[in-house]
Amino acid sequence: MRIIENIAEMQRLADAWRAQGERIAFVPTMGYLHEGHLSLLRTARQLGTRSVISIFVNPAQFAPTEDLASYPRALDRDLDFCVQIGVDAAFVPSASEMYPEGFQTYVEVTGVTKNLCGASRPIFFRGVATVVSKLFNAVKPHTAVFGQKDFQQLVTIRRMVKDLNLDIEIVGHEIVREKDGLAMSSRNTYLKAEERPIALRLSRSLQIARQLVDSGEKDSKKILKAVNDCLTAGGGASIDYAKLCDTETIEEIEKVEGPTLLALAVWVGKTRLIDNCVLGR
Ligand code: PAF
Repeated sequence: MRIIENIAEMQRLADAWRAQGERIAFVPTMGYLHEGHLSLLRTARQLGTRSVISIFVNPAQFAPTEDLASYPRALDRDLDFCVQIGVDAAFVPSASEMYPEGFQTYVEVTGVTKNLCGASRPIFFRGVATVVSKLFNAVKPHTAVFGQKDFQQLVTIRRMVKDLNLDIEIVGHEIVREKDGLAMSSRNTYLKAEERPIALRLSRSLQIARQLVDSGEKDSKKILKAVNDCLTAGGGASIDYAKLCDTETIEEIEKVEGPTLLALAVWVGKTRLIDNCVLGR
């Protein structure tokens, strides 16, 4: 596996592959890989003839109060996983390679980033859209795979690709869960043992909502009441948001009449967890 730290070198490799008719499939990550990332990488290997991962903890998507400094990192272990999976190249730029002195250009997707995580983390999607654009320009992929756990991120990237006419196919990958239902996340490592049962309420509340919708309930208020009750019963969880939204516009809806995103962000102690499902399909 090639390990590349430099943007120009990554571009040269991508150009050489493209000249040989290879199809490049890309998985952008912030590292500390878990089974969710690994399944994105396996999918990428199937979608392309060459697969590339990027591992870069992107300062531009963290607010000063957030966990940039403590974000878990394990580069050697991550690279071993990538070799085992058969990834062709790992792009691991430094912050100064990505954001050199004088950097002043950002990509901003507006409408779909207003609600949910965009409301709680105002600079987050600007940071994501900017870094993903830069990573796309470095890796020059034909296709890129993103997890659906970050549903709003996936919608934002699709919007950006469409609006900027980027010639890249975006593939969404279903959420990968632990055996107990917890959606896989690098941040799960922050959870203390006693917080784990509280964290499980997220996936449990999604199931409750699904059962309600499957039995004919359409009223958002009733569904969200059941979700809120499940999340808060027993204490220890503080809801950032629990909302039902249109899957494309990410605007709130009052009735579940077609595919509807149920999106959750919940603080369990000092850890902010997100999870979601699409109801009504
Ligand atoms: O989902 C992530 O890990 C990050 O937001 C991404 C897409 C790698 C951009 O930094």
